[in-house]
Amino acid sequence: MRSTRFWSFWLWLILLAGICLIFLDSWRSGRAKFENNYEAVDFEGFNNETGSPSGCYIVPNFVHFVRFNKPKLSFVEAVCILSAFYHQKPEKIYIHTNVKAVGKYWQVLAKVKGLSQVLEFKNLPIPREIFGQKLSSKWNVFHGGDVARLRILSEFGGLFLDNDSYLVRSINPFRSLEMSLGWQPGKSLQNQVIVAHKDARFLKLWLESYRDNYRPDLWYYNAGQLPTKILEKYPHLVHRVHQLFGGYGVVRSIFQRKWPDWKNYYALHLMVRHQNLLKNVNANATYPVVFDEFNIHKYPIAFRDMAYDVYPF
Ligand SMILES: *[C@@H]1O[C@H](CO)[C@@H](O)[C@H](O)[C@H]1NC(C)=O
Ligand SMILES: *[C@@H]1O[C@H](CO)[C@@H](O)[C@H](O)[C@H]1NC(C)=O
Ligand SMILES: *[C@@H]1O[C@H](CO)[C@@H](O)[C@H](O)[C@H]1NC(C)=O
Repeated sequence: MRSTRFWSFWLWLILLAGICLIFLDSWRSGRAKFENNYEAVDFEGFNNETGSPSGCYIVPNFVHFVRFNKPKLSFVEAVCILSAFYHQKPEKIYIHTNVKAVGKYWQVLAKVKGLSQVLEFKNLPIPREIFGQKLSSKWNVFHGGDVARLRILSEFGGLFLDNDSYLVRSINPFRSLEMSLGWQPGKSLQNQVIVAHKDARFLKLWLESYRDNYRPDLWYYNAGQLPTKILEKYPHLVHRVHQLFGGYGVVRSIFQRKWPDWKNYYALHLMVRHQNLLKNVNANATYPVVFDEFNIHKYPIAFRDMAYDVYPF
């Protein structure tokens, strides 16, 4: 009698432990579906504000730059790569390019402690077509760059930065989300700073939107206007960042004056091609200025602080 009770007690206990194990296992695999698993994720019903259920990262800590036909790095671009290195502390910085890197600023980067371990060059020809449509020869580097960033993010996931985007601080808070981008109220979305999982639904839609609908004559149609139309219909597909991924009109603040507010952003697009927007309000400067590690000291401007933060003078 005693021994039957004894055995039934143990049987119950084993049964109970078994049930617990099964629960624990399914709970763990539920978590594991997201946790440190940058592989295929089904985003059906995913929340664009709270992100992955346990808040764990689903976007790998990769930073991607695309550089076409530009073997040499400028001082400003070197500062931008350094900003990504120090402020994001990425596992990898990929430079996708069709040319061999040469020139002094690459050598400066090569000497920065720890940077060469994460910096990796990947050969990438300029895309010439999309879905059978020839990319504009006039805008080739730019339209090619627009397509390349979508393909790269669809392959690897991570953070894409335009070659003149400065990363102010870590974008880790966005790594638990499917896809985040800058999109100011009433404007077209921005494609200079994109954080995305490789299976993000909007990445696919964005690429698909080129099908039979590529406009070679328009600078920002496929890269901005058209995808914005799609997002207006399906705003749940991205996490919209109104200002902090950098906006229009900050270029003057960055290059013309002291502007402590730059620290509030996540990223700033320096728009080095648009220096003609700058007026000569600063008595010391006649714009456009080709900034370098020598003349920058003379300009009491926000960009000097940004460079001081990361560049090995
Ligand atoms: C990167 O920026 C430079 C300007 O500094 C520009 O000439 C080049 O085309 C850009 N690369 C891409 C892929 O947009
Ligand atoms: C999330 O998606 C909703 C629509 O479902 C949208 O109204 C909201 O603005 C989005 N939130 C962010 C932060 O983008
Ligand atoms: C010009 O540069 C000098 C030396 O850095 C600085 O003291 C002065 O404030 C600058 N002037 C203006 C208008 O920014």
